[in-house]
This record gives sequence, structure tokens and C-alpha cells, in this order.
Amino acid sequence: MKTNIEPKVILITGASSGIGEATARHLAANGHTVVLGARRTDRLGKLAAEINTAGGTAEYRALDVTNLADVQAFVEFALKKFSKIDVIINNAGVMPLSPLAELKIDEWDRMIDVNVRGVLHGIAAVLPHMTQRKAGHVINLSSIGGHQVYPTAAVYCGTKFAVRAISEGLRQETKDIRVTIISPGVVESELADTISDPVTRDVMKQFRQIALKPDAIARAMAYAIEQPADVDVNEIIVRPTAGAQ
Ligand SMILES: NC(=O)c1ccc[n+]([C@@H]2O[C@H](COP(=O)([O-])OP(=O)(O)OC[C@H]3O[C@@H](n4cnc5c(N)ncnc54)[C@H](OP(=O)(O)O)[C@@H]3O)[C@@H](O)[C@H]2O)c1
Repeated sequence: MKTNIEPKVILITGASSGIGEATARHLAANGHTVVLGARRTDRLGKLAAEINTAGGTAEYRALDVTNLADVQAFVEFALKKFSKIDVIINNAGVMPLSPLAELKIDEWDRMIDVNVRGVLHGIAAVLPHMTQRKAGHVINLSSIGGHQVYPTAAVYCGTKFAVRAISEGLRQETKDIRVTIISPGVVESELADTISDPVTRDVMKQFRQIALKPDAIARAMAYAIEQPADVDVNEIIVRPTAGAQ
């Protein structure tokens, strides 16, 4: 366990797999307290137990980020346990890619609900506390899809462009709260499992062959978190070295 880092209370949404799970492990190993949220509580329970057994501190709670009351309850749970929140990582996301012509409107709505409303709910739930404390850090997961648009990814990219716009707005409107956008390239995770369109799923399999391990993104988040309070790392883009896009 490292001791030269100021320990923080860090909330992570979507901590049951992929980037969220790797980030929980990495930050806990750095001495931070992590509060884990997602819908699959069996996974969160195992992860929290693993972290606690290794000498870290982790708590978890069932969370659906599409429900504001649920996100508020998640934040209240963390405040009750640890009396403060230093960082929220709005990481939960879904990516059911498909061409617009397929009219998978339910999937478009799902992406908007989780990737955009979920991030807004996370911000709304912590902002009063962070404003009152005059301190805090909001980290939002965008993507290289928040910088470029690809066929089949119009709606997903739209949600990730939105995350960057919302984050930049929050950054400009606050003086004491740090705001960081994390924009990963392709990373090993369960994200592509939400793709229901078979052709797009095959294309994604090829694209994901050079995927980074999720701890690459965890280290980027730790870098932003562990800067002094007057240093706001605004955005980090992390791509595989072999990746063109
Ligand atoms: N992997 C990549 O290549 C990549 C690249 C750029 C950006 N990103 C972004 O990174 C973030 C993490 O994704 P990942 O790659 O780690 O994918 P992942 O393994 O599929 O993880 C997504 C997480 O989001 C959670 N989630 C989904 N819907 C939720 C909801 N309604 N409420 C609460 N949690 C929910 C899932 O947990 P439950 O199902 O248990 O709720 C899961 O823990 C996403 O925002 C994604 O867009 C990923």
C-alpha cells in the first residue's frame, strides 16, 4: 500500500466490469477508499471483498444511473459511511452500435439514458456537497468517440460528445471543483457485448484486437486524481499505440 498519496473517498459508477472494475482495484491499491455502484451487485460484492481482504477499503451499493433517486441514494450511502466525497467517476456506459437505418430506437434511448442522463445524475447528486465543501473532483468517461464520428456509432458518439460538452460547462462554471474528461481508445471490456447488430458486432471484434487493458485507463484516472487541488487535468486521451483511430 502506497503512503505518500493523500487518501480520497472515490465513487465509481459502472464498477462491476471493465474500466470501472480495474479503476476500483488500482485506486484502492493506491490507498483510496472506493464506493462501487452498478446493477450487478454479485460482482460488486466479490470485488469489494477482494479489495478489503487485500487491506483496502471498499463499499458497494446497487445502482442504476438512469434513475436520479437511485444515484442520490448512492451518494447518501457514501456520505453516511465516510462523511465526504472527494471524487465521483461517472463511468457507467453502454454502446449498442448499429447503423441509424436499422432504427434501433430503444437502443438509442438506452445510450442517452445511461451515457448522458447517467452522467448528469452523477453530477447533480454530488454538486451540492462539493459546492458546500468548496472542493471535489468530477471525472466523466467520454471516448475517442467524443472526438470523432464513425458509421454505426452516430448515437454513441453523440452521447460522448455530450459528455465532453457537459464536462467543459461544469469546469467553466465552478472554481473549486476539478473536472476531468477521460477519453479512451479501444479497451478490453464488456462494452461491445451490448451490440445487437451482428454485422457491427463482427466489425467491432476486428477493431478490438489491439485493445488496451483497462488498467491503462485506471492509471490515467489516478494521475488526474493525485494532482494537487489547484491542478485540474482537463482531459486525457489514451489510445493503444498501434491504434490509428
Ligand atoms: N472499452 C472501450 O473501448 C471504451 C472506449 C471509450 C470509452 N469507454 C467508456 O468507458 C466506460 C466504461 O465502459 P467499459 O468499457 O468498462 O464497459 P463495460 O465493461 O461494459 O462496463 C460498463 C459498466 O457500466 C455499468 N452500467 C451499464 N448500465 C448501467 C446502469 N444503468 N446503471 C449503472 N451502471 C450501469 C455496467 O454494470 P452493470 O451492468 O452491472 O450495471 C458496467 O459495470 C463507458 O462509459 C464507455 O463508454 C470505453
